[in-house]
Amino acid sequence: VVLVVDFGAQYAQLIARRVREARVYSEIVPSTMPVAEMLARNPKAIILSGGPSSVYEEGAPRLDRAIFEAGVPVFGMCYGFQLMATTLGGTVDNTGAREYGRTPLHVSKGGSTLFEGTPVEQSVWMSHGDACSAAPEGFTVTASTDVVPVAAFENDEKKLYGVQYHPEVMHSTHGQQILEHFLYRGAGIEPSWTTGNVIDEQVALIREQVGTKRAICGLSGGVDSAVAAALVQRAIGDQLTCVYVDHGLMRKDETEQVEKDFVAATGVQLKVVDAQERFLGALAGVTDPEEKRKIIGREFIRVFEQAQAEIIAEASGDQPVEFLVQGTLYPDVVESGGGTGTANIKSHHNVGGLPEDLEFQLVEPLRKLFKDEVRMVGQELGLPEEIVQRQPFPGPGLGIRIVGEVTKERLDLLREADAIAREELTAAGLDREIWQCPVVLLADVRSVGVQGDGRTYGHPIVLRPVSSEDAMTADWTRMPYDVLARISTRITNEVKDVNRVVLDVTSKPPGTIEWE
Ligand code: XMP
Repeated sequence: VVLVVDFGAQYAQLIARRVREARVYSEIVPSTMPVAEMLARNPKAIILSGGPSSVYEEGAPRLDRAIFEAGVPVFGMCYGFQLMATTLGGTVDNTGAREYGRTPLHVSKGGSTLFEGTPVEQSVWMSHGDACSAAPEGFTVTASTDVVPVAAFENDEKKLYGVQYHPEVMHSTHGQQILEHFLYRGAGIEPSWTTGNVIDEQVALIREQVGTKRAICGLSGGVDSAVAAALVQRAIGDQLTCVYVDHGLMRKDETEQVEKDFVAATGVQLKVVDAQERFLGALAGVTDPEEKRKIIGREFIRVFEQAQAEIIAEASGDQPVEFLVQGTLYPDVVESGGGTGTANIKSHHNVGGLPEDLEFQLVEPLRKLFKDEVRMVGQELGLPEEIVQRQPFPGPGLGIRIVGEVTKERLDLLREADAIAREELTAAGLDREIWQCPVVLLADVRSVGVQGDGRTYGHPIVLRPVSSEDAMTADWTRMPYDVLARISTRITNEVKDVNRVVLDVTSKPPGTIEWE
């Protein structure tokens, strides 16, 4: 494993993904983890991420210098670079010489493990206030910028490397190459992390965990639960029963798709539970987003527990169902505060929303994977393209896309609007370009309109098209005006009680993708 030490910004996830793109397995650890604990995991290399602090701030995260003396190759980026510099006796000045954004980097002559084979002049992404003016003893300066004399250094003998910039972001033109040079040349790691390995490894782990017992898996219609189910089915076959909870918060035709496409592709045993009334009852009168998420998460589990009894009754044996399969992904774990100790941003219904008296043991075969890796695993498992390439849809469904109380009428209305938006986006060929486009009903807001000859007093619908690589950050998609116009005209004409369509032009951060 390669450990990515997280200094508190969201760069660590991106770095971990880039390492895996280089086919090397990586995991994120918080900077507060004791160095001895990091080393006890026998990492093949350690990467220190960037972070929002200045090394001069009081309370800024530090690292025990033992990390640089254990013989493990270390690569510091941005804050990690400055920390390496100060810890090992170099000089970092609080010069006030700031550099933000795209910056020309001048690579020094005379050979470098990291920059080998890359251009002498390259564009990199900078984001820092402090600057390194002298490298620690024994280090060679390998690059500079117009502002910073030491923008990269290395000590090949000790296998320590650092760059002031962010090689993980795509604006650093040779960033991936430099990262690979560190991994392959600096740390001598063989790239061997593939989706084939993931499947073999997970199948073995699932068999070990579940043994001859039975498991159930909630299918949501999304990629994650589908891939998790397919993986578990490969491991334990008919010991798995999939349960699809129709909570009434699904989009139009979604239930039928799960019943048809997924079962056809996998041959999995599927049980459909109609729980619409139960969910609507539990959500009645609730407007707080976190409360909605918790309720939906809790009801999900309750429905499974009930399904369990039925599954046992239906099965020939009397083997109890002890395991629950969930399609939890690595970003869910990290964002729910489980991976890095960072703040809890939202309770994802399948992580933070679990009730404490859970009766199942969890099987989470995707817990270490990023979305793009899940898609590759799905493809390798032979799932159809429509499932594998599906845009993300949150577990709590339309329940968190109605701002205000969730009712049957409002859900029906939102379903219509959402179906129109999806249809037009698909017709315009935008499904790949757009990561997802939540359609949100502002149920507690009304505005005045005019339709025909009459005054209307209806609700707005929000379109939230976003482009993203991993949902951790996102930008609003600059969509063609004519497509927006068609969606707006159709929604206001065809959906009762909606007299206005608005476009959300907020990136993430500061806005999350979903409104709740
Ligand atoms: P946010 O709103 O946090 O969403 O920017 C990031 C991504 O996660 C999806 N999402 C969820 N998925 N359960 C899920 O399975 C949830 O509770 C949940 N909340 C948000 C969201 O659609 C986006 O893709």
